[in-house]
Amino acid sequence: MKPQMQPMIARPCGPLSGSPPIPGDKSVSHRALLLAASAVGESCIEGLLEAGDVLATADAVRALGCRVERDADGTWRVAGRGTGGLAEPDRVLDLGNSGTGARLLMGLVASQPILTMLSGDASLSSRPMRRVIEPLQRIGARIWARGGDRLPLAIRGAEAPLPIDYTLPVASAQVKSAILLAGLSAPGKTTVVEPQPTRDHSERLLAHFGAEITVDALPDGGRRIELTGQPELMAQTVVVPADVSSAAFPLVAALIIPGSRLTLTGVGVNPLRTGLLTTLREMGASIEDCRTRDDGEPISDLCVSAGTLHGVDVPAARVPSMIDEFPILAVAAACARGTTRMNGLAELRVKESDRLAAVAAGLAACGVEVKTGHDWMAVHGCDGPPPGGGIVTTHFDHRIAMSFLVLGLAARAPVRVDDGTAIATSFPGFP
Ligand code: S3P
Repeated sequence: MKPQMQPMIARPCGPLSGSPPIPGDKSVSHRALLLAASAVGESCIEGLLEAGDVLATADAVRALGCRVERDADGTWRVAGRGTGGLAEPDRVLDLGNSGTGARLLMGLVASQPILTMLSGDASLSSRPMRRVIEPLQRIGARIWARGGDRLPLAIRGAEAPLPIDYTLPVASAQVKSAILLAGLSAPGKTTVVEPQPTRDHSERLLAHFGAEITVDALPDGGRRIELTGQPELMAQTVVVPADVSSAAFPLVAALIIPGSRLTLTGVGVNPLRTGLLTTLREMGASIEDCRTRDDGEPISDLCVSAGTLHGVDVPAARVPSMIDEFPILAVAAACARGTTRMNGLAELRVKESDRLAAVAAGLAACGVEVKTGHDWMAVHGCDGPPPGGGIVTTHFDHRIAMSFLVLGLAARAPVRVDDGTAIATSFPGFP
């Protein structure tokens, strides 16, 4: 066991009630910092996620020459340097565990005439980067990466960046966003075509900061996004919603612990993020949108009550809208009646851990029957509390740790996770 590991245990518990605080949206937080850095003037960010991943991005933005401060009331202020105005950092930027931080920053610096070096922890250093390296090289960046595809890496941004027209080979909001951020400093129109729509926080925030950006639906269900380069972005106030991917943990806990009733307030319900809510409702879950509003992103208070769930088939087309939620869906499925089959999961294998393998091993350790293939998983539900009693290996993956701690609250015997330290990357104060 590495010295810094922190084993955790979750014991079966009684009904949950109340309104637990949900931290700010991680995806929106990263993007708010990076766009504020690219705008002229001082932006204010309210509700920024103050967790490892986003703090690493804030630190990187500082190293790129921007003033980044936190007020006593929790508002963050970023003094931007305008499009293309970042300074060359005098140190290696360490993005910790964050794939989003690393890939989006690569995009931002790829079209600016500076040299940037990026590193990350063991998990991030094992994740594929070619998916961003390849389009960024087309824009004109020069990139030296370990093994051609991994962090640590160095990027010399293009002196004369080219606008590109790029069709995403994988459904990835990170790749899309990296290209759009690079396109900010290129003249003319940068175009990204995504065969399957992915979270559109970058598009929304680019428009909010004053960029000219159009999004067109394609007949085959995809989208075509066109950004006009070299805009003068102006400082803005950004209000970050609560993260639906974090809300998912107390939400599923409330569904599977009999007698529970929780209200989760101010949760971002962007339709490109809410595939889990759709799936759980199909499984019979009671999740009400109690108060919806719009603050640049659609937001809702979700009122959740425990009840019986039944197995469903999750179509591959829904995967991008719930890409981070399969570990916690698998926990809900473990308590459901019947089998839940999840399809199109290949991307789960290159997240903070191989989540398909980690979830399958964790469920098996907790006495739940599960089958997997290269890109699918079938969970045979226990029609009530699963046995539990296992020790789950988290592979320093926050979502694996939180998912199995939730399972432990609803199981017949306590569940242990080998290490909960990664939870701090996304959910400070997780119970
Ligand atoms: C994210 C996109 C997703 C997701 C990640 C956050 C983002 O990754 O898994 O946690 O903020 O753009 P991919 O773009 O690789 O699917």
